[in-house]
Amino acid sequence: MHNKLTIDWDDFLTNYWQKKPVILRDAFANFSDPITPDELAGLAMEEEIESRIVSNKNGIWDAKFGPFIDYNNLGEDHWSLLVQAVDHWHEQAATLVEPFKCLPQWQFEDLMISYATQGAGVGPHIDNYDVFIIQGMGSRRWQVGDRNPNYKQFSAHKALLHVEDYQPIIDEEITSGDILYIPIGFPHNGVSIGESLSYSVGFRTQTSQELLSNFADYIIDNLPDGIFYQDPNLKLSSDAYRIQPYELTKLQDQMIELINNPKLFNDWFGKYITLPMHELNIVPVEPAYSSEEFVSLLQSGLELYRVPSIRILKIGDYGYIHGEKIALPMPIIDVLCANEILYYEQLADKTTLEVMLNLVNRGYWYFAEQQ
Ligand code: SIN
Ligand code: CO
Repeated sequence: MHNKLTIDWDDFLTNYWQKKPVILRDAFANFSDPITPDELAGLAMEEEIESRIVSNKNGIWDAKFGPFIDYNNLGEDHWSLLVQAVDHWHEQAATLVEPFKCLPQWQFEDLMISYATQGAGVGPHIDNYDVFIIQGMGSRRWQVGDRNPNYKQFSAHKALLHVEDYQPIIDEEITSGDILYIPIGFPHNGVSIGESLSYSVGFRTQTSQELLSNFADYIIDNLPDGIFYQDPNLKLSSDAYRIQPYELTKLQDQMIELINNPKLFNDWFGKYITLPMHELNIVPVEPAYSSEEFVSLLQSGLELYRVPSIRILKIGDYGYIHGEKIALPMPIIDVLCANEILYYEQLADKTTLEVMLNLVNRGYWYFAEQQ
């Protein structure tokens, strides 16, 4: 059964999105947990899945990173297991992100799930992403403070950055089906009351520093010929040691021109933003399908499944997936974005089949039987 989310999105965006935290009571009425603590513990034993156990026994913070071999010696309370990008690996859990697909998909990061015992949490901290924390089984007490650039942060453990005491603007317990939305930058602390499960749907954007650095890499790879500063109208100045303001402006313009070139900027961003933020369940086809094999599998009625949470996005006339441009026209790209499952009739022209063959052989879509 899929959980149904009720949110007045217009009201939410107007009043809360990236403005202030809020508790949305009973947003998932009759919420049913899509995963069990045992299944979560099983995922955290896998090499390619990011996980950690955070504990706070007698006020001493500790963090260990997976994969985990066993869960012995953890005791009854004050520890939690956190597993990143569960939407990539667990079909039922992935259904929880569906209702959030009305938000800009380029900003969606992942579904993180935490299982916590009595008194457990990761401590008071500030995240650099927006998060919807859905309470599953059990309940948690959340204290959320206001945004303030002056909060002091410190390492409570080498893997745990905590924030000093803050005055809560929210101090409440949430129970199954409630959502706590916390925008980037608001300090928060959640403490489990008994055993509990929390589902964090995260949205992340990139800093100017990250963007510039990545754009520079793209420019180096895609414009191998250097663009040199030149000034054919040069006049002698009274001080040859001083860099003239107009020269600085010309240098800035020379750099900004690259960013302002939509062909470069859009192509870079499409490729950059579709790169995965966490490991995906991509299995290249070995040996690769031939064109005949591929078409006959589709014609026999087999459906193609898109790898869960692989990043596929549109910019202008182009579609991008997993860091590359898809050489297909927009009407087909629309079909590829809108449908997680594809069938023959949607793809039945020569170019589409050729392009899809390549993407399927790379593992971005798969026939249900093959995995
Ligand atoms: C948790 O689920 O234990 C931590 C979530 C958070 O505070 O970001
Ligand atoms: Co947090």
